[in-house]
Amino acid sequence: MNKLLLLIASILLTTLTLQAQTGAEVFENKCVSCHVKMPPEGMGQRGTPAHREAMMKMKAPPMMKVAMKVKMAHQSKEAFVAFVTDYIQNPSKEKVLCNPKAVEHFGLMPAIGKTMTAQERVQIAEWMYDTFSGQKTCSACTSCSSESKKKEMKCGQGKCGGK
Ligand code: HEC
Repeated sequence: MNKLLLLIASILLTTLTLQAQTGAEVFENKCVSCHVKMPPEGMGQRGTPAHREAMMKMKAPPMMKVAMKVKMAHQSKEAFVAFVTDYIQNPSKEKVLCNPKAVEHFGLMPAIGKTMTAQERVQIAEWMYDTFSGQKTCSACTSCSSESKKKEMKCGQGKCGGK
């Protein structure tokens, strides 16, 4: 009898493990169709054809940029995860942390989080937090002329333009 229970338990466990996705897989399945992982090369070269082409190709801000923006406002992992899990279910203009121009350009994100399980939402949020932890936003920001922009790009570790 005990053996049978053990067998059932191990079968259950195996199926659960097989079904479980990693945060990276959730990103591939649910986010990458719009959010590329890293900013494409042309993105930092404002005013050039390369920049225009990069912007045309993208459907949403690169995930690295999104993660850094959210992290500037919500530094602890708990607060970061809370923001992301909420935003992907209830996106709104009022909540947006990215440059408002991004919303103008791309439109508001669909409530994709509603099609996901609570576990997937947490997984993707934690993945974003961990994956982009060492990045400095500023590497992609080569033209930090104005003070307001500098402030906007300030990101805890590196300041705008700082390598
Ligand atoms: C159909 C395209 C699309 C998909 C799929 C998508 N997003 Fe977005 N997302 C956008 C767009 C467009 C924006 C920029 C406008 C906005 O903030 O709503 C955005 C912005 C965001 C923001 C930033 C909000 C802010 O404060 O500026 C977060 C966080 C985010 N997405 C997370 C995700 C995650 C996580 C996934 C995958 C589970 C995902 N997105 C899938 C289109 C998408």
